[in-house]
Amino acid sequence: MRTDICDLLDIEFPIFAFSHCRDVVAAVSRAGGFGVLGAVGFTPEQLAAELDWIDKEVGDNSYGVDIVIPQNDAGAEEGDPARLHEKLLGQVPPEHFAYAKKILSDHGVPELPPGEFHNGLLVRSTSTTARLHAAEALRHPKVRCVANALGAPPQDLTGQIHEAGRLVIGLCGSVEHAQRHVANGVDIIVAQGAEGGGHTGYIGSLVLWPQVVEAVAPVPVLAAGGIGSGAQVAAALALGAQGVWSGTIWLGTEESELTDQQRDALVVARSQDAIISRSLTGKRSRMLKSGWTEAWEKPEAPVPLPLPLQDLVAGEAVTRLSRYPEYSRDVHITPAGQVAGQIKQVRRASDVLLELAGEYVETTERLNALNERLDAAPGTAAK
Ligand SMILES: Cc1cc2nc3c(=O)[nH]c(=O)nc-3n(C[C@H](O)[C@H](O)[C@H](O)COP(=O)(O)O)c2cc1C
Repeated sequence: MRTDICDLLDIEFPIFAFSHCRDVVAAVSRAGGFGVLGAVGFTPEQLAAELDWIDKEVGDNSYGVDIVIPQNDAGAEEGDPARLHEKLLGQVPPEHFAYAKKILSDHGVPELPPGEFHNGLLVRSTSTTARLHAAEALRHPKVRCVANALGAPPQDLTGQIHEAGRLVIGLCGSVEHAQRHVANGVDIIVAQGAEGGGHTGYIGSLVLWPQVVEAVAPVPVLAAGGIGSGAQVAAALALGAQGVWSGTIWLGTEESELTDQQRDALVVARSQDAIISRSLTGKRSRMLKSGWTEAWEKPEAPVPLPLPLQDLVAGEAVTRLSRYPEYSRDVHITPAGQVAGQIKQVRRASDVLLELAGEYVETTERLNALNERLDAAPGTAAK
């Protein structure tokens, strides 16, 4: 499965692992794939510590960092994170905070001790925070690529990343998004089908991937959304992708950041349990059904706010659940894609990577055998 992107990034397998967990990123890059750390949720100082750690663990290999600057960027006019936070907090109706608190209290999750919600001062998914993340990423030479989600990265940022000798990756869910990325100087496109975990669009992978490949050629495309086996990797390459970009399968690894309760939920989840909800960020996000997602569907629930306001509403709940995971079995907040239904056991990240590669080879051999059958039956094709 050696494609041009393997030569471009000097990697063995064109398999990209998106994760918010540094251990997964380092393990995948070390094993011959390409790990990408999701920066959302980290303060710039925390991100610096995570990247220092990965630098030490990853040996001579490289990796990527993913930031989030949405198309409708609430941070465009306010560069100071604390002032932006203050301004946006004032736009959240109190009933939303009260409803989020009540969901957790109804499930018996204790309140956070006063003062423990530090990351609440950081507004996720705005350029104000993401530009600080990008600057930190560029201070680390082993960061070979900076990816941006939810919109085309601003051209000045793309310029800075290129000047630092790194590549820009852009995630998209439609041909139009992909074209906007290319116009803004993006080097590699990730086409994510609707079945993928986290923020997601409306078009299924099998239909989206080849359309994006054709629309942006010769810009390389990575196929995302629903990659959980080597056969699915083969399907992506068959449809013209130069590699795959996956998120959900890495959640089911020993290294991942999930709590035991979330990991248990992932292993028993069926594909149809990975539903679309706006309860986490305000944008369509695919996540495992739980008491949290169901509560936001109830008739008495307030309508989730747009990004990034709903993020502020859910932020405290996320912190509270990770502080008290033992109470989270029925009310966890777990973004995951439909491929969750394929995850039946927890394995090491390097084993997942090598299994994808092995299954890819088996798949291509199976397909080759079909061609050989045709060769062995002369005249069949002419009938
Ligand atoms: C838990 C989780 C969190 C995610 N967070 C982000 C994010 O912060 N930024 C981003 O670009 N993509 C994010 N994604 C989407 C992934 O980058 C990737 O496109 C997606 O997982 C691919 O589909 P799959 O889940 O079927 O592999 C997230 C996905 C998951 C599962």
